[in-house]
Amino acid sequence: MPGYELWGADERREVQEVLETGILMRYGFDGPRAGRWKARELEAELCRRLDVGHAQVVSSGTAALTTALAALGVGAGDEVVMPTFTFVASFESVLSTGAVPVLADVDDTLTLSPAAARAALSPRTKVVMPVHMCGAMADLGALQALCDEKGLWLLEDACQAVGGSYRGRALGTIGRAGCFSFDFVKTITCGEGGAVVTNDEEVWRRCDHYSDHGHDHLGADRGADLHPILGYNFRISELHAAVGLAQVRRLEEFVATQRRHKAALRAALEKVAGITFRRLPDPEGDSATFLSFFLPDEARARAAAAALKAAGLPAMYWYDNNWHYIRRWDHLKSGASLTRWPDDLRRSLSQIAAKPFPASDLVMSRAISTPVSLAWNDAQLSDRAEKLTHAVRSVL
Ligand SMILES: Cc1ncc(COP(=O)(O)O)c(C=O)c1O
Repeated sequence: MPGYELWGADERREVQEVLETGILMRYGFDGPRAGRWKARELEAELCRRLDVGHAQVVSSGTAALTTALAALGVGAGDEVVMPTFTFVASFESVLSTGAVPVLADVDDTLTLSPAAARAALSPRTKVVMPVHMCGAMADLGALQALCDEKGLWLLEDACQAVGGSYRGRALGTIGRAGCFSFDFVKTITCGEGGAVVTNDEEVWRRCDHYSDHGHDHLGADRGADLHPILGYNFRISELHAAVGLAQVRRLEEFVATQRRHKAALRAALEKVAGITFRRLPDPEGDSATFLSFFLPDEARARAAAAALKAAGLPAMYWYDNNWHYIRRWDHLKSGASLTRWPDDLRRSLSQIAAKPFPASDLVMSRAISTPVSLAWNDAQLSDRAEKLTHAVRSVL
């Protein structure tokens, strides 16, 4: 997810504007900052481009998820249903609120299965958190209907999917809140950064306070702010926000390029008999950061991943990946925490360790994703498509 590939004059200009004033903090210092408010401008751009009421930019996607969960009132005794295929930050953020991550199977969308989410509900469930993995959407219609039926909140982990949409609405803006990551390897980058978006003003206000030590941000004098709640420091710096501001203005261009490149790769791979593709609940809304496909079985998927690597192409075989798939989340299963957790949380983690996920295994053991670059020229794109099909065909 390579926003960093197109770093250029716009990014440098925005950063330079911050360096000229030397005001690196997003709050206060109204006089010396000479009207430069990069974090605020980034929030306004996100609202405008995603057509959402409120955005709170923070220091990372992990901070965004933690802040959003807190803003939805998630805490000790609550459960959050999330998929077995995601990035570790999704469950880290749940654990940091004191709540229990409850894992549920993914299906051939590579995202949370609505049926598995339903089966994972308990009287303690407060939030269902689908993750729009590899740039594309979960089955949001079914998941939102489940939440409405059961009186739960839908929180979208859209950290990998900025610029995607579902039935014409931006991913991240459909649930009660949604979160993005702008770390170095996302479609748009701040270097490090993230955002919570929501149409609920009260949820946004809580995010605003929580991500800055509970400050109410009401007066012009930061030192005199009141603290209606306890919070933390998840602030973004103006330097990081400046980079993100230049990048977000190019979001449509980045996504259009990704879509064009992905379509060419897919068209080539479609000609290989025996390959199937990840199901997209709304193909038009794919942000197209990866091409994800299935081999007929695990043995051939492993062979294809090896063949791609041998041909010099990056290939994610998620089934073996220790950041993204439950099979290798040993630290979660053993509860390897530096601090002592409440007994009920520790008990819940031992249940995760004991639980098999055969439906997820069946999908993930056959899946491969290959990243889509923004930087390819036409010759490089054709070369990539040819090498990809040749490597995959060689194992079938
Ligand atoms: C699905 C998902 N959630 C959350 C995060 C966390 O984002 P960050 O790296 O900005 O903390 C990531 C980052 O890779 C992610 O992929």
